[in-house]
Amino acid sequence: MPINHSPFTTHNSQFFTHFWRFAGSFSVRTKIMGIVLALVVLLGVGITVQVRGVLTQALEQRLQEQSISVARDVAARATDLILINDLFSLHQLLVETQLNNPDVRYAFVIDPNGTVLAHTFGPGFPRDLLAVNSVLPTDHHQTVLLESDEGPVWDTAVPIFDGQAGVARVGLSEESMLATVSALTGQMLLTTVMVSAVGIAAATLLTWIVTRPIIDLKRAAEAVGQGDFQQHVTPWAGDEIGELAESFNVMTADLAQAEQERVEREHLRSQLLEKVITAQEEERRRIARELHDETGQALTSLMVRLQMVNQQCPLPDIKTQLDEIRGLVAHTLDEVHNLSVELRPSVLDDLGLEAALSRYVHDYQNRFPLEVDLVVIGLEERLPPPVETAVYRIIQESLTNIARHAHATTASILVEQRNGRLRAIIEDNGVGFMRGVGNQNGRLGLYGMRERAELLNGTLTIESEPGRGTSIFVEVPL
Ligand SMILES: Nc1ncnc2c1ncn2[C@@H]1O[C@H](COP(=O)(O)OP(=O)(O)O)[C@@H](O)[C@H]1O
Ligand SMILES: [Mg+2]
Repeated sequence: MPINHSPFTTHNSQFFTHFWRFAGSFSVRTKIMGIVLALVVLLGVGITVQVRGVLTQALEQRLQEQSISVARDVAARATDLILINDLFSLHQLLVETQLNNPDVRYAFVIDPNGTVLAHTFGPGFPRDLLAVNSVLPTDHHQTVLLESDEGPVWDTAVPIFDGQAGVARVGLSEESMLATVSALTGQMLLTTVMVSAVGIAAATLLTWIVTRPIIDLKRAAEAVGQGDFQQHVTPWAGDEIGELAESFNVMTADLAQAEQERVEREHLRSQLLEKVITAQEEERRRIARELHDETGQALTSLMVRLQMVNQQCPLPDIKTQLDEIRGLVAHTLDEVHNLSVELRPSVLDDLGLEAALSRYVHDYQNRFPLEVDLVVIGLEERLPPPVETAVYRIIQESLTNIARHAHATTASILVEQRNGRLRAIIEDNGVGFMRGVGNQNGRLGLYGMRERAELLNGTLTIESEPGRGTSIFVEVPL
């Protein structure tokens, strides 16, 4: 049964991808700082809100109770004064009550008919206050919360002498309670800000401690990437990052050793290659000379002998046969000569690169239907023999390749010596390199050309596009 991916899974994974991309875009420092700050602020604000809530509730409860006890006290002490109609003392009692209790906003006493007997309002008594709270004679008390211009007020009404002498009313303001709560809130928020500051300082220190070895590692890794294997990072601590540093050091040490082995092998390889190439040149030179001196001489004297025999022979039949044989020998002599030149032209040793190239190009044009343009600049003096041989062989192989692969109609060769460097450019107007060709196994021509250039600390670059011909640039220091 196919498993249905629920839309939530896709949605979630998308969310996490976005989240990680977002979180990952900040530096470690910012992340740690963010976590610390968020925790401190959350904790600070959370505790403040909670404490504020609990405290407000407790204080309100107390204020309410206080309002009741003050009102009951006033009611008890007012009874006699009302009965003897001592309104002055009644007023004194109310003023005193207010003086003794700073939370008391007002206090007044009304008789059973609703007439105000005494109050603490000074000249004007707010009449609408009478209607907002009332109490039955049978009740113990009645408390309501009023919203006044000066904040909430707990108003308690208590019947005096079971209501027969009237009602005592007392209002306790929440003002001072609210001031206490906001002072506490302010203090707690200040503490939060201070702890945040300490948290930021601690986070900065922490990230510095944590990221310093990572930054070291990053720098070292970049250097290693650039080929500097001598990098060593100091493990600052025995933690995971310290272990990473240790592993990094082991890795660079291994890399350094591998690199050293590679350099040694490379050195050995070029030494070997140089030996092989030199030996090959030597062998070619020897065979070329042998062909020229021994075989060529032998064939020449054979021709001279045949000529003599031919002159002395009276039989016309034999004479024509001898002529044919002489033609064959002459052809073989030509072949031997060509072979010897191809192997190692003595002009290269005797007259130098320019002469050898001119000769080679001349012969080449006789052999292939191709226009070759040779320009040599600045080669008045002889070059070091290894350079002459290498450049000659590179051009020889290039021209052979052009004849074999390029289907070109013209080729041009430029050899120039300037500023202590020898440059050669071999161009053709042929089909160019086909994609993927040229680095096939077993194709040693191009490889050999490059090796010869590199053995002389030079370079060889090939520029080619299908259908656009080929250019080979060689540069060798002298
Ligand atoms: N001038 C050129 N034009 C087009 N293709 C070339 C040219 N020179 C070399 N190539 C391509 O590069 C390949 C490798 O050349 P090379 O290493 O000399 O090997 P080989 O000549 O034995 O094929 C050739 O097979 C040919 O496809
Ligand atoms: Mg070739």
